[in-house]
Amino acid sequence: MYRKHFGLARNPFDITPDPYFLFPTPKHNEALASLYYGVQRQMGFVVLTGEVGTGKTLMLRCVMELLSRCHTEFAYVFNTMLSPIEFLQYVTGDFGLPAVESKGQLLVQLNRFLIERHQRGLATALIVDEGQLLTWEVLEEIRLLTNLENSRKKLLQILLVGQPELEQKLESVELRQLKQRIALRCRLESLTLPETAQYIYRRLHLAGANGRGRTLFPEDSIGSVFEHSKGVPRLVNTICENALIAAYGRQLNTVSKEIIQEIAADFHLLPMDAPGVEVTTR
Ligand SMILES: Nc1ncnc2c1ncn2[C@@H]1O[C@H](COP(=O)(O)OP(=O)(O)OP(=O)(O)O)[C@@H](O)[C@H]1O
Ligand SMILES: [Mg+2]
Repeated sequence: MYRKHFGLARNPFDITPDPYFLFPTPKHNEALASLYYGVQRQMGFVVLTGEVGTGKTLMLRCVMELLSRCHTEFAYVFNTMLSPIEFLQYVTGDFGLPAVESKGQLLVQLNRFLIERHQRGLATALIVDEGQLLTWEVLEEIRLLTNLENSRKKLLQILLVGQPELEQKLESVELRQLKQRIALRCRLESLTLPETAQYIYRRLHLAGANGRGRTLFPEDSIGSVFEHSKGVPRLVNTICENALIAAYGRQLNTVSKEIIQEIAADFHLLPMDAPGVEVTTR
């Protein structure tokens, strides 16, 4: 609705994780490399964690695009409220294998499928998002899947992604066997102030702002976005999107610091040094 007013070709601050808008911080680059090379080098089991809204699902969307280009087949599980058998059925279903009832048959099918792909020199991955919500029983099932290997290589590459609660789960005594199998581990962080500025300007540029990024969001507005979002990308997007709508509503060509403060107050986002900081990202 505001695109015409600001001369933008698309919405710069949509909150859906879209690889087109990737801003490659060193941490995001490292995460993407770990996920991608973890699969390519058949390392077995890779874990990525990060606070709410820091870009984990975006990393997975990016890695899935890369994997699709190199004939790696993957199953993507994002609904983690599944029982162990439903989990296995979902995974085999996503690989296009016929539906069967028993766990034994599911595992036999999966094993045959993985061996056949391995013999053709093709990698296969299981990608699990929202891992912090998985039950211990399903995490144990994932551990058992890491056993699918021939004498030299893991047949199934597993990417497990989740919020920091996942790290705590992996620290528990019950899951120490799973923890020992992690080959690569990385963590996403929120953005620094300079990164937040670059992030906002890059999104505006990719949305067609044509060098008008600094007019749209002057430096003091960016400082205020950072203060209230603490550099969490999803919050940055929410604040900036709403700020653009507010500026459009007032027929302004620039988003002032005052507008950012108003939006942050509407979303109950307190500045960084305020007591009892409340963060709402969803
Ligand atoms: N490095 C980045 N470059 C561009 N956009 C980013 C980046 N990191 C995060 N985002 C954007 O921030 C928003 C939140 O990202 P995403 O949904 O991937 O977070 P998440 O870590 O999966 O959150 P949750 O823990 O709630 O699942 C999305 O709009 C995403 O595109
Ligand atoms: Mg996510």
